[in-house]
Amino acid sequence: MKSIEIQLSEWMNRAFRAAFPEVDLSGFPLGVTATTEEAFGDYQCNAAMGLARVLKKKPRDIAEAAIQAAAPNPAIKKVDLAGPGFINITLDEQALARYLEALQADQRLAVPRTGEGRTVVMDYSSPNVAKPMHIGHIRSTVIGNALDRLYRFLGYRVIADNHLGDWGTQFGLLILGYRHFLDPEAMKRNAVEELERLYVESYERAQADEAWRDQARAELVKLQKGDPENEALWKQFGELSLAEFEKIYARLGVSFDLVRGESFYRDRLAGIVEELNQKGLAVESEGAQVVFLDDLKLPPCIVQKKDGGYNYATTDLATIRSRIMEFAPDKIVYVTDERQQLHFRQLFAIAERMGCSTELVHVWFGLMRLPGATFSTRQGNVIRLEKLLDEAETRALSIVRESSPSMSPEQQREIARAVGIGAVKYADLSQHPQSVVTFTWEKALALDGNSAPYLQYACARIASVRDKYGERFPDRNPIDSPIRLEHPMERKLAVRIVRFPEAVERAAHQFKPNVLADYLYDLAQAYSSFYQNVPFLKAEDEVRESRVRLCMLTEATLRKGLNLLGIETPDRI
Ligand code: ARG
Repeated sequence: MKSIEIQLSEWMNRAFRAAFPEVDLSGFPLGVTATTEEAFGDYQCNAAMGLARVLKKKPRDIAEAAIQAAAPNPAIKKVDLAGPGFINITLDEQALARYLEALQADQRLAVPRTGEGRTVVMDYSSPNVAKPMHIGHIRSTVIGNALDRLYRFLGYRVIADNHLGDWGTQFGLLILGYRHFLDPEAMKRNAVEELERLYVESYERAQADEAWRDQARAELVKLQKGDPENEALWKQFGELSLAEFEKIYARLGVSFDLVRGESFYRDRLAGIVEELNQKGLAVESEGAQVVFLDDLKLPPCIVQKKDGGYNYATTDLATIRSRIMEFAPDKIVYVTDERQQLHFRQLFAIAERMGCSTELVHVWFGLMRLPGATFSTRQGNVIRLEKLLDEAETRALSIVRESSPSMSPEQQREIARAVGIGAVKYADLSQHPQSVVTFTWEKALALDGNSAPYLQYACARIASVRDKYGERFPDRNPIDSPIRLEHPMERKLAVRIVRFPEAVERAAHQFKPNVLADYLYDLAQAYSSFYQNVPFLKAEDEVRESRVRLCMLTEATLRKGLNLLGIETPDRI
């Protein structure tokens, strides 16, 4: 079924075309959007303002003409002309009620399959081998996974690719560190931590010791040339790291279609540089192969170093080429922190010059701050993602113990897991990705604010209303009674429920999961005032059933929305 916004937009489109049949209106936005204030009705259309110039008329007259030309529409109670030419639309309650009844039978809650037949490659998480995933990686994993879920739900074929950093210059230092400083006991206890220690120690020694640096470079060259011993070590590092990453993905409920590290493309790098050369895109400069991007006011990009080594950008060019050949995607989306903006600007510019016409999108996010801790790997005082998740679960457990003391300890732990992990994810997803997020436990776990526990709790409360209803009225099925929207709170809630499809689409297409989070929070608040202001089980026959149906619709919407953000919704909290 179509969303109300789409239905009204189509209706408005036809009205404008009927009012001005002689003018080509294609390309002008003629649709409606949900209003932000009730005083303006439920939906509004601002198209008249944008048409003033082409039609050489006052916006108010244009809007008036469209209203006059509009076909009668039983879904609409009234249409007002406001201000300089806004068209404000108020829905008819009867029609809205019928719509909600149909919505209740729709698994997709009216979310269209806009992505049908299209393919998106999503490159996210992508941590570096031999370095533990620290909290800075959480945003890429969590935001990327939410986008992944949103696009899949919209019908896109999504290829989630974890582009591991497994072929960088760190391996020279690491192999050297491994040969000189290895503590076999520590390696057995926690391989990734030991690898990181080896790397840091080797890195520090290299700062002061030129011979050490030369040796590290020699080890790297050996690895790149396929030296069996170094290759075996490299492989071992990769496997150990991946096993560690997998544990975190399992806890976060994240899975990938592909885990292709940078190393996967290593044999194609020479070909990329050659092609850039042949096309005159790369030129030799001081012994290196460089693509100049002065015309775009971007610094030059080195695709092959003086020593013959290739760079991050070269690998990414080979990766784009390979993804296009294999998946023919409509879009490739990269989710990383803000520090990589220049890299992707250069990369996209070069890819385009090489003939890539696929839409390339860099979704960048600000760094997350935890008061009292930093996230850089090289500084001490690092809070690991794993530790953060452990703490989240522990803190959630004390909340659950308090709210549900009679529950079994296993059940409490299971719910605390969903609440704790959900809280960490939501704290991130509910923020504009490009803002600096300051993470605090108080906010993340607040039961009365814009947090996962608040929304999860709302779902659980609705579930318990549903259960109570079932116990008291075992032989009634609310679906047999019509929905009524008589109380203003019922109407308010209904108007919000039907806006779900647009929240999903905007969150996906603007790459902003927070758009969906904001919607869910707003819906939960509308539900909460509904719940507090109108009687449910004590209401008269039929009214009671209608209200239970509204509860069920709210619950389905909240659960689906949270699920699209990758957040679980336990039945009880
Ligand atoms: N491994 C990189 C890092 O941790 C992120 C890779 C992002 N993806 C890409 N195709 N460049 O900084």
